[in-house]
Amino acid sequence: MNIILLGPPGAGKGTQASRLEADRGMVQLSTGDMLRAAVKAGSPVGLQAKAVMEAGELVSDAIVSALIGERLDAGAGSGAIFDGYPRTAAQAEALDLLLAERGQTLDHVIELEVDEDALVERIVGRFTCANCGEGYHDRFKRPAVEGTCDVCGHHEFKRRPDDNEATVRTRMTEYRAKTAPIIPIYEGRGLLRRVDGMADIRHVTESIEAILGPA
Ligand code: AP5
Ligand code: MG
Ligand code: ZN
Repeated sequence: MNIILLGPPGAGKGTQASRLEADRGMVQLSTGDMLRAAVKAGSPVGLQAKAVMEAGELVSDAIVSALIGERLDAGAGSGAIFDGYPRTAAQAEALDLLLAERGQTLDHVIELEVDEDALVERIVGRFTCANCGEGYHDRFKRPAVEGTCDVCGHHEFKRRPDDNEATVRTRMTEYRAKTAPIIPIYEGRGLLRRVDGMADIRHVTESIEAILGPA
């Protein structure tokens, strides 16, 4: 089963993808994570993407679709969870082709519906474990023991360079202009399902699980 998690910055795509990955053996394919890894590694893709990401704009369709193709070739367990991809009409077309070439289909497109006012707070409060990447939030998801990662026990955490208010506003503008227009495409194909992304994290997972059916 292959699914897309769609929604604006801070909607909870990454949070839900990692929960589904843990619960169902699916594989999270986050183009944002792949690009951040490329920036960190200083690869040619990373060098091209760094400034674009820091500005909150979109990296080129060709780069992100190539990253997704490579990951699909590496195998995607019991299914892929596309997180932050596709983000433009051209990427949506590329994904159809990438899946068709591999004899695969797209099963559900899940839109996380959120109140825009809440997103800035979610994003500026976000941090992750510097060792294992577990996600946290200053208000909504603090480590059980202050300063210690729940998952791996590490004590260092980090914040994304694009998680400041000005960049978040640009990311939202990009979402409205380029990503929201692909929603009706999937709706027309009968693939779109909407989930209340304002519910608490566990309830959002339950709503998604209900759509996916038994693992
Ligand atoms: P990307 O990394 O995809 O960022 P994004 O889309 O802006 O989304 P976020 O990762 O910020 O949010 P999320 O929905 O994953 O929320 P999260 O679960 O963390 O992309 C970054 C950049 O890379 C882009 O700007 C672009 O430059 C480039 N890029 C990436 N993909 C691209 C593509 N396909 N094409 C072109 N360029 C691309 O949740 C946020 C916070 O809220 C967390 O702290 C979490 O704990 C908390 N939270 C989550 N759910 C809830 C809840 N239900 N209640 C309360 N708090 C919650
Ligand atoms: Mg994310
Ligand atoms: Zn950790």
